[in-house]
Formats: sequence, C-alpha cells, structure tokens
Amino acid sequence: MAKMWAGRTAGNTDSIADDFNSSISFDSRMYRQDITGSMAHAAMLGAKNIITQEEAQTLIDGLDGILSDLDSGKLEFDMSCEDIHMFVEQVLTERLGDVGKKLHTARSRNDQVALDLRMYLRDEINTIREKTEKLIVTLLDAAEKHKAVIMPGYTHLQRAQPITFGHHLMAYVMMLTRDCDRLRDCNKRLNQSPIGSCALAGTTYDTDRRFEAKKLGFDGICMNSIDGVSDRDFCVEFLSAGATLMMHLSRFSEEIILWSSWEFKFIELSDAYTTGSSIMPQKKNPDMAELIRGKTGRVYGDLMALLTTLKGIPLAYNKDMQEDKESVFDAVDTLHMCLDVMTPMIATMSVRADNMKKAAQGGFINATDLADYLVKKGMPFRSAYKISGQLVGKCIAEGKVLETLTLDEYRAYSELFEEDLYNDIALETCVEKRISEGGTSVTSVEAQIKYVKDIMNIK
Ligand code: ARG
Repeated sequence: MAKMWAGRTAGNTDSIADDFNSSISFDSRMYRQDITGSMAHAAMLGAKNIITQEEAQTLIDGLDGILSDLDSGKLEFDMSCEDIHMFVEQVLTERLGDVGKKLHTARSRNDQVALDLRMYLRDEINTIREKTEKLIVTLLDAAEKHKAVIMPGYTHLQRAQPITFGHHLMAYVMMLTRDCDRLRDCNKRLNQSPIGSCALAGTTYDTDRRFEAKKLGFDGICMNSIDGVSDRDFCVEFLSAGATLMMHLSRFSEEIILWSSWEFKFIELSDAYTTGSSIMPQKKNPDMAELIRGKTGRVYGDLMALLTTLKGIPLAYNKDMQEDKESVFDAVDTLHMCLDVMTPMIATMSVRADNMKKAAQGGFINATDLADYLVKKGMPFRSAYKISGQLVGKCIAEGKVLETLTLDEYRAYSELFEEDLYNDIALETCVEKRISEGGTSVTSVEAQIKYVKDIMNIK
C-alpha cells in the first residue's frame, strides 16, 4: 500500500523494511494520549481560524468516535500502519474524507510523539508514586506494630547491635519517601508541552501553543522547538528514579528472602505470596521477592539502553529515538507489577518476634553496652572495649552468654562491675537507651513514624 508520506518517493518499501520501521505493536498503548492530543490540536486550529470552526468540530467528533471505538474494542489496530499516529490519521480520513487530512496542519509526528510520551508518562509516574505511597502506609503500620520487637541489627551480615524490627522497617520507609520525591520532581520538569515545535523549526502558521498546552494540562511549553522534539531527558529521569526505587525494593526483597529462610525464621510469608517445589514437599519459596530482586536488573537495563541510544544522535529527531518507548514501557510495567505484589506481601507476612529475640540474644550484641557500662563507671573506652572483648571470648570458650556470667566472674576482670550491670546489658535496656534522634528506641521510632506521616500527609 502507498504510504501516507508517499510524495518524493512512491512509498513502496520492502516488507522487511516496513516491519523493521514499524512501532505500532508497542506505541498503540499511547492511543488515548494521541487522540486527546489531536483533539486539542484540532480545537487550536479552529480557534486560530487555520481551519474553520466547523471543520475543527468535525475532526474532534471524529476523533472522539475513534477513541470510544478503540476503548470498546469495536475498532482494532491495523498492524500494517507504521505507528499509532499514522493509524489514527488513516482511520480519521477513512471516516471523514478530506477534512481528516487537515488535522496534521502545523504539526509533525516529531512533536506529536514527544507530546504523547510526555502525557503517557506523567500519568504513569503519578500512579507509580501513589503505589509507592501505599507501600509506605503498609510499612508504617507494620513499624508501629513492631516498634518494640527486638532483633539483631547487622553490619557485614554479622550481628552488631540490638535494634527493633520497627526501626529496621522505617529505614526502608525513609528511602521510599525519597523515591516519591524523585518521581514528583521528575513530573515537574516533564510537564512542558512540546506540541507546536512541529518537525523541528516551528511553523509559519499563526498557532497558539499555549492554548494546546493548557487544554492538555501542561504547566507551560518547551521554549525551544529543537529541544522540544529532540530530548528525552524526561524519560531518562523517570528511568533513573525507577531504577533507584527498584534498587530499594530489591534490597528489601533480599532481606525478606533471608528472613524467611530456615536459618533466620524471622518472618513467614503468606501462602498467597509463596510457591512450592515440584519435587521437595517441604519447600515454601519466596518467588515473588526473588522476582522483584531479579526484575531490578531489567529496569537498570532500560535506563542504560536509553542513555546509550541518546548519547550520539545529532539534533533534532532521528529514528533511533523510536527505541525510547520500549525501555520506558518495560520499566513502567515492571514497576507496577513489583509494587502491586510487594505491598500485599508485606501486609500479610507474619513476624516471628520470638526468633528475632533469640537471635538477638545469641550474638553478644550487647558487648558495646557492656563496655559503655564500664566507661560510665570511670574506665577509658579503649580499656573497657578490651575487657568486654575478653569476656565475650570467655563466653564463647565456655558456651555461655554475657547475661549468664556471675558477678564474681565479671569482677575477676574489673572491680567496677556491680549487680546493676545485668540491667544495663539487658537487650530491652540497650534498645531503650538509644534515644538519639533517628535511633532505635521506641520513642525515637515513634517520632520517625510521626515525621513521615507529617511530610507525606498520611492520617
Ligand atoms: N514512530 C515514531 C517514533 O516513535 C514517530 C515519529 C516519527 N517521525 C519521523 N519523522 N519518522 O519515534
């Protein structure tokens, strides 16, 4: 079939070239944005008397009909069209005749595709941010519930100091609040309309770019037409924010996988978010968490792919830029899926506080507090550190823990030890004493929860 752009050439391309060139198989997902953008364009052409008011209305009604027919499934995409923009214009012209051919006045697919992608992405960014907020709310509930549940805090995956599970969860909450910020920030810069940039240089028609921008909910217009059609930095920003969010979800997933192992047994995931093994009957596998961890690589890849695509292309539009969409769509889909599964998985997991406590008791994680006890009684910290270390060594050799050594055993190392040491090294005391802002004490965790609720406007 002759191409819509047939003119200089006959438009007869090889079918292999057609397939290679075509983007309708993936850009059809932007049909709503494409049609809404075209309706605003037709209205602008009418308002500026570039076409008659009547023609503008005919175009708008025609586009509206195409939109509802696509929504209802009455109309199907024609995969022989090069892209979604060509498809909509083709159907419009079939339905309206010559008037349909007026829609593309003072416009190019170059500014059209940039417009569609910005409109598509700003909505997706908003829903991804809302889903992240839902995850935050779920984590805040869990942190509140487990604010006094003692577990070992780790460094180098070695038991380090006692913390609460609530405190640990709040660390992720803080990361996610910044992810929400990044997504919001991304939309701030994205929300400038490129339409009216035309092919690259603007147009000779007396258009009103701000009229269209306002109609489509943009805050303003791209102030340089070459920039408007050439850059995809708004996609890069989204992919970068998305990759960071995935990195956080992945670290959290890794902990969920560890915690639900027999070795830790800190949590148990609901059956609804685990799978069994086809051969080993005892298995309960954290597949969802593993997949979130695994899919993180895809989103990193999407970011790298787009950065690489963009790095060497001269201004303005080049067909390389058609490659932007699959990366963006893949990241959008992945983020939606991961957030959709993460939130209920966390909401339904059960916490094995007894096992967390047992692990906290076994690793001498109060050794710092034992040293601090001696410091309080007047010993320099380095000397206190040494004695505490020697006592840990003694315990390990004799299969004991610090809590079970007798006062006499303690006093053999320092006369400063008295009965009150047992209270000082009790895990509850270790946690309760860490009252510094942002620390692990219950009051500090409560303050963190309140802080996040305030900044995120959560009731
Ligand atoms: N399908 C194209 C894309 O996704 C639309 C823009 C085409 N413009 C052009 N001059 N060939 O980038």
